[in-house]
Amino acid sequence: MQAPPTAQAAADATATTTGSRDSIEQYPLPPSTVDSRSYTDPAQYRREIEKVFHSAWLRACPASDIANPGDWSVFSELDQSIVIARQDDGSVLAWHNVCQHRGARLVAGESGHCESGRFTCPWHGFIYDLTGKLRFAPMKTAFDPDRIAALRTPPVRAEEYGGFVWLCLSSDTKDLKTYLGDIGTELDWFGLETFDVRYRFDLVLDANWKVVVDAFNETWHVPFTHQATLSEIVQWGKARLRICDPHSWMTIPVKGLTDRHPDDADHRASHITHYLAFPNTIYSNFPTHLQTWTMWPAGPGKTHFVAYGMVGPCPEGISEEKWVRQNDRDWQNFQDVASEDCNIINGWGTVAHSLGQGEYLFNTAEGRLTAFHREIGRRTAAGA
Ligand code: FES
Ligand SMILES: [Fe+2]
Repeated sequence: MQAPPTAQAAADATATTTGSRDSIEQYPLPPSTVDSRSYTDPAQYRREIEKVFHSAWLRACPASDIANPGDWSVFSELDQSIVIARQDDGSVLAWHNVCQHRGARLVAGESGHCESGRFTCPWHGFIYDLTGKLRFAPMKTAFDPDRIAALRTPPVRAEEYGGFVWLCLSSDTKDLKTYLGDIGTELDWFGLETFDVRYRFDLVLDANWKVVVDAFNETWHVPFTHQATLSEIVQWGKARLRICDPHSWMTIPVKGLTDRHPDDADHRASHITHYLAFPNTIYSNFPTHLQTWTMWPAGPGKTHFVAYGMVGPCPEGISEEKWVRQNDRDWQNFQDVASEDCNIINGWGTVAHSLGQGEYLFNTAEGRLTAFHREIGRRTAAGA
């Protein structure tokens, strides 16, 4: 096993399991490397958008943002504009926010409620319904009737799961549950439909999206980056990694929770469970509440980081007031910890094009990064 360079504390932690069966279970992949240019090359970036993002299920808005029929929200990532609209029967449909006459943006704004169930293009007045179908066109008889009869904005696949709407831009990808696989089975345990999306923040980072994903999928930076905030609580050296391509996850023991459970307790009840829903959504879960964030590529060197705090029903034995206070405090802690990560990540942006950039070294404790880059490599290889 290759020890992580320069980090004595981390080396100590990994050394304790070297050579044992435990070490294989804790760190299932050998060390690996990745060329730093894969983070900065514009052609690679375009391949990732096309080959990775255009075929994945992507988590969009909280379902509660469009709770009632007529509510809509516009997804504005990956150079796309997609209307997500709650239908009269309670279902959700999504469609490209592009007028099919001459390509104007159809729905302005980020979110709202459409009482009439009709959206009017601001350019020449085409009118569409909540499903994206054309309902009225001025000068209709002046158009080619074959072209205008069944006109609609192209639909986008949408599914609701875990309190969010998910989108998929490909018709070839299987349904969301199949796509999420083991990660979905893991997440089912929490009953996320009963959780509220109570907190949120977003910011733009000066870094490639994969740098940001990498930063949140290993624990051994904790004693350095999060010395004051996490290192005493999170038993980062005992994290156990699991790879379930294209996703991955890990369990992390935490003081005050893991020690209150027997060894054979369900890991989701006794640990922080941390999931990557490939390619860009992370869940960091306690049994009763969680933080979850998505990293959207916004150019080779920019990432839109969108985070939410979700809170489950108030546990027995705690007053509602205390539960709110506790969750407010946890969300504040999460923001403090995330800003420690984001400071480092933004620093990466200032050296991204340095001639000193070479190959990145992933150690065994960074096995989830190895799996992630292996998957990206597979999907973006020539001919893939
Ligand atoms: S572009 Fe929408 S009506 Fe002309
Ligand atoms: Fe961190």
